[in-house]
Amino acid sequence: SSVYAQTYVLHADSAIDVVSGKLISPATVVVEDNKITSVGKSNRKAYPKGVEVIDLSGHTLLPGLFDMHVHLTSDAHVHGYKRLQRTASRAAITGVRNAKRTLDAGFTSVRNLGAAGYADIALRDAIIDGDVPGPRVNAAGPSLGITGGHCDNSLLTHEHKVFSEGVADGPWAVRQKVRENIKYGANLIKFCATGGVLSKGTKVGAQQYSQEEMTAIVTEAHLRGLTVAAHAHGTDGIKSAIKAGVNSVEHVSFVDDEAIQLAKDKGTYFSMDIYNTEYILGEGEKAGILAESLDKERKVGATQRASFTKAVKAGVNMVFGSDAGVYPHGDNGKQFSRMVKFGMTELQALQAATINSATLLKQNTQLGSLEAGKLADIIAVKGNPLKDIGVMENVTFVMKDGKVEKR
Ligand code: ARG
Repeated sequence: SSVYAQTYVLHADSAIDVVSGKLISPATVVVEDNKITSVGKSNRKAYPKGVEVIDLSGHTLLPGLFDMHVHLTSDAHVHGYKRLQRTASRAAITGVRNAKRTLDAGFTSVRNLGAAGYADIALRDAIIDGDVPGPRVNAAGPSLGITGGHCDNSLLTHEHKVFSEGVADGPWAVRQKVRENIKYGANLIKFCATGGVLSKGTKVGAQQYSQEEMTAIVTEAHLRGLTVAAHAHGTDGIKSAIKAGVNSVEHVSFVDDEAIQLAKDKGTYFSMDIYNTEYILGEGEKAGILAESLDKERKVGATQRASFTKAVKAGVNMVFGSDAGVYPHGDNGKQFSRMVKFGMTELQALQAATINSATLLKQNTQLGSLEAGKLADIIAVKGNPLKDIGVMENVTFVMKDGKVEKR
């Protein structure tokens, strides 16, 4: 890179201030080096030589998007027993392709909520080193889970003696596992509070970690300055996770009024993957998803969407989390229209994927909105997503850290 700061001037039909909800039209955003230096009404003056002017007429500018629940090292066409053929090194290579697809879809930040062999951390570091393109990856490493739980692997019999790396039982064992993940580079912690859809033999609604274990995980992670995400479909597990102090609950399918109130009191974020069900029920069988998982999905999908509507109405803090990796990376944006269909305004859906997510990650002074002083993660879509949220499925321009990644 050059010793001189690169300056870009972006002219667009408008820019969305996701904090106030106001539209700036027409808009000009100036980027110097990797920072936004001004956002305002268009000013098509002459700029000094060396400044690159990018004409985005017909487009709306937005801050780079966050997907708070992805598995970059997993592929949508590899499920069930097919996953036994995938090594962590093979998965890391898949992750390279998926990181690019995710970035091209406008997602300049992700939380990678679980990967075997620390493949997500290798990928994150390769992106930081500039070896491969990709979003800013906040990585969990192996997800913590109980023996035989959703975050363990139960596809083989006891004779094979296979346990997932994140398995830990008991308060001190889970604290040790948190410490181990931090040692090897995790910058957030993921654990499985309940059973799941895609795991063999788990009851999707049943709690797995005890309250005591969840509290130990969260206490240890927070002590070390990391945020925590809990996979939880079932009501009791959701409540225990919130009481333990997790920063976000993932899925949140069988939530009740008491859990919603608890989340509101504690400021807990919900990250609900409400597009996922369409892919699982449509394409899942071909991809190797087990029959029992398809059965579970039939009980979860519609309920989760009704729960989403309730949580939005109640005013719970919401982020955008898709669980991409279960469905194809790059299709992350498809969830926006479902979030609007099931109760959000267009602005709320955009806030979930920008300022709310940045706030949950404690990165909101740097990212999450188009403001002077913030890092230059900027995208553009054709048309106006406040009128037609569907345009979020076609991101035409992506800048990350002041670098043009797609145009
Ligand atoms: N990874 C999640 C699980 O296996 C996916 C759940 C998908 N279903 C849904 N309706 N969101 O539990």
